[in-house]
Amino acid sequence: MRALLMIAVVLVSTATAVGPVAAAPAPAPPGATRLATPPMGWNHWNHFRCRIDEKIVRETADAMVRTGLRDAGYRYVNVDDCWEAESRDAAGRLRAHPVTFPGGIKALADYVHERGLRFGIYTAAGDKTCEGRPGSGGHYARDAATFAEWGVDYVKLDWCGAKGDPHRLTSEFRAALDATGRSVTLAVSRHGAPWRWPDRPADLWRTSADIDDNWHSVLRNAQEQAGLSGAAGAGRGWNDPDMLQVGNGGMSAEEYRAHFSLWAITGAPLLMGNDIRSIDKATLDVLGNREVIAVDQDALGRPGDRLRGDGTREVWARGLAGGDVAVALFNRGPYTTEIRTSAAELGLPFAHRYAVRDLWLHGPSMTRGEIAASVPPHGVALLRVSAGAAGLEERVTLSGDASFVEPGKKTVVRVNLRGGTTFGVRAPEGWLVRKTGVARFEITAPANSVAGKESLTLSAKHRGRWITVAHTVVIAPPPPRGVLALSDHPRVEAENGWYLPMKVNRSFGPDDFCADCPGGPLSLAGKRFDKGLGTYASSQASYYLGGMCRSFAATVGVDDEVLGMTWPRPHNAVGTAAFSIYADGRRVYDSGIRTVGGPPGEVDLDVRGVRELRLVNHSAGDGNFADHADWAGMRVECAN
Ligand code: GLA
Repeated sequence: MRALLMIAVVLVSTATAVGPVAAAPAPAPPGATRLATPPMGWNHWNHFRCRIDEKIVRETADAMVRTGLRDAGYRYVNVDDCWEAESRDAAGRLRAHPVTFPGGIKALADYVHERGLRFGIYTAAGDKTCEGRPGSGGHYARDAATFAEWGVDYVKLDWCGAKGDPHRLTSEFRAALDATGRSVTLAVSRHGAPWRWPDRPADLWRTSADIDDNWHSVLRNAQEQAGLSGAAGAGRGWNDPDMLQVGNGGMSAEEYRAHFSLWAITGAPLLMGNDIRSIDKATLDVLGNREVIAVDQDALGRPGDRLRGDGTREVWARGLAGGDVAVALFNRGPYTTEIRTSAAELGLPFAHRYAVRDLWLHGPSMTRGEIAASVPPHGVALLRVSAGAAGLEERVTLSGDASFVEPGKKTVVRVNLRGGTTFGVRAPEGWLVRKTGVARFEITAPANSVAGKESLTLSAKHRGRWITVAHTVVIAPPPPRGVLALSDHPRVEAENGWYLPMKVNRSFGPDDFCADCPGGPLSLAGKRFDKGLGTYASSQASYYLGGMCRSFAATVGVDDEVLGMTWPRPHNAVGTAAFSIYADGRRVYDSGIRTVGGPPGEVDLDVRGVRELRLVNHSAGDGNFADHADWAGMRVECAN
């Protein structure tokens, strides 16, 4: 069920139309981006990996025309790694793989161009690509000339195996491309934190690790975009949280909409990563949503950013050309929740009415200032708000306040809808529902319910008709009595940096990319800890305390093991992270930026009455290399 809007309070504001992102883009430095808006297109990697050939690429170009995706704005057809032959030709030139690309790249690029599309290719800055094919290291001028001869419009220059300073090598590659006289878009990876470079030899740069077709990965990459909007924009280049996974099958429709919405609001490149030849209607409805694409491609060219977040509810916003603001009310958490903002918070000028358009429901409505939505777990309400509205009906949001349900124990649910007269709650079979007030209900799940998620249906009668909304709750066991290592208690939900699950009572481990490794001992500034969580920032973990605990203590910082790592420290960060704790959505602790080897943060909190404790860390803006972020020695004292 999608979000509905409601008006709660008339907000009077004197704010001017500054939009949510204050800094205007600086004038373009020499060699800066040629792209006024983020690139849109398709890239084979997410779906096909090395099982790619020229036939698939040609059929994809045709499918982009046939499905209308080209006309919706998707212009690039990009071939990623594995197009190359195992070796260069006798003259030292790169060549296409003779079996999978027998017609050669020039013919393929021509085919793509004939369909009104542009052609992109992949190479790497070092000797080898990530798949071990010949890279461009030592051949920049020659390869740039070859690409120009073939009619290439876009080069993805990967980093795998490259040695040297990423800024210098990127600048050299840019110069090689420029020397061909062809205008070529240059996309680079995140090594050397290109969003911090004073000039911009590339047109777009990755800001995160490779995306996977799962929610963890989307979340992690979206979180890495937070705080980076000032580095990107028209005339500067674009932050790239990696290509889209929409339509690849690993996420729910809700999650794919959230993925696409967050990419649009942050002005990310929209490079589809699915099989367009067999695209289904649901996927086409997401990727082809022109109202969302218009946010991504907005003419002001100023990316949006996160305005605020409490680890569960996040408000992301983007100022648009003409003064509108796009806002994503994003639910990172496991239960349905109402998320609010206001015209004033979004920086809109004062008006008596604002038009609000839901970019997924395509419905117009009106508000007097406050904007709220009931958002399902991993979902988003994406809205476009403009000052002034005439002839629109006020929109309503039906929501409830239930988040956790303990097996066998009563939970109160209050249903909320302004102007509603009669209210209802429907729960799964076997649950008790008792109405104890006009809009107040008590629900009880069977004592033997297993931990997990369940859905309620809330209903309300408004102006003579019934409205309903699905509302997901989390069934969680209460914490046991006594002093407890919180890491031993089940987590309600967790996301972790890179692809990899966080470690319980271990550090993330000295091997940066290992999913099955046992991790290492938790160690901060020389002190060892038996208990705790080993995470890779950005991450979040949520625990249900049920209002039954007194105190929470922990030591937080970047694990000492990072000091011993030889890779990837030379390229990037030393290992930094910032830790925050939210008690029922209220921020109760902030560590500031912690650096490996530096003093850790000591946490000692009074958590009486707190139902949910949410531990959040992020990578402190320098990219999430080496950010092994420990919640060490987590202790909670509970009385049941
Ligand atoms: C790296 C990149 C990916 C993809 C692969 C190909 O991992 O980040 O996007 O290009 O290489 O080998």
